[in-house]
Amino acid sequence: MPLNDILTDGPKLIMVGGKGGVGKTTCASAIALEAATQKRRVLIISSDPTPSLSDIFELHIGSTEKRILRDLDLYGLEISSDVILNKWKDTFGDEIYEVISSFANVEYDFVDYIGTAPGIEEEYMLHFIIELVEASKYDLVVWDTAPAGHTLKLLKLPQLFLKHMEAATKFYMNLYSYFEKIKDAIRLKESKKTLLEIIASWEKLAEKIVSFIRDTKKTRYVIVTIPEALGVSLTERVIREFRENGLSVDYIIINNVIREADCEFHKIRKKMQESYIRMLAERYSYIKLVELPLFPEEVKGYRKIEKICKLLFPK
Ligand SMILES: Nc1ncnc2c1ncn2[C@@H]1O[C@H](COP(=O)(O)OP(=O)(O)OP(=O)(O)O)[C@@H](O)[C@H]1O
Ligand SMILES: [Mg+2]
Repeated sequence: MPLNDILTDGPKLIMVGGKGGVGKTTCASAIALEAATQKRRVLIISSDPTPSLSDIFELHIGSTEKRILRDLDLYGLEISSDVILNKWKDTFGDEIYEVISSFANVEYDFVDYIGTAPGIEEEYMLHFIIELVEASKYDLVVWDTAPAGHTLKLLKLPQLFLKHMEAATKFYMNLYSYFEKIKDAIRLKESKKTLLEIIASWEKLAEKIVSFIRDTKKTRYVIVTIPEALGVSLTERVIREFRENGLSVDYIIINNVIREADCEFHKIRKKMQESYIRMLAERYSYIKLVELPLFPEEVKGYRKIEKICKLLFPK
């Protein structure tokens, strides 16, 4: 089954995840190219520490949005963890510092420390993507995620972090409640908002992100895998994590599939692959499986991506 209907109803975000080296960047690039060919304004973002988009499109992309093709509205952005952390700090740093420093004696560096909390990076990326989408700058963002085994801790952890902040703040508010009357009126120096107002605005933001990523009209999730034991077990884990977070995987792309085996070596591999493909098909009959053949050569450059595109989106 091909990938054609992934663009139906105009999703705003397509997230491509999976184990390291299985073909995430390759597939994300092909999906982005197809959407741009269909006249959408598309941004492909890679949050990989290595400049993988630059590699595959054979041009320097980097950490500011860059047009990839002259004739199509296809843009790219490579954004590493430290760039994300800096952007996060620019957006939320002052407020967070204000809140914490109102009840604890900490240096501003503490904000850096908070920024390294697990889940912050993903949440910030989503925040960043939602802002782009809401500003109507792009019709679609394709996110080629970093090769972490657990791409999607992004729901639980930011919420835990917020809960923690909220609890700490409430605790200090209770101390302040000696001054019962001024309790709700403790205003922070800069923002003129009360502590609880700020916490409430963070919560609202987290809720907005959660409802965006759970909105099946706006988001689609693709897992790329290979028909081998490790690929299959990681896929199972990701699907389970997704489910626990109220998300569902829409497509599994099984990459590197051997189509024709004309020697003993490939015959054995093909047989092994078939058993894993069958396993995935039986276990996940409700998810669309898309097979992509193994090529003798690597996928590099526009022509090759186009070739993948034609296989994933047959006309
Ligand atoms: N179907 C295929 N046939 C042959 N080579 C492929 C195929 N798919 C991907 N490749 C090659 O495999 C390598 C890894 O692919 P890719 O960079 O897309 O994986 P990735 O999941 O993004 O990796 P990482 O986890 O490191 O980001 C690349 O050299 C790519 O050209
Ligand atoms: Mg990659």
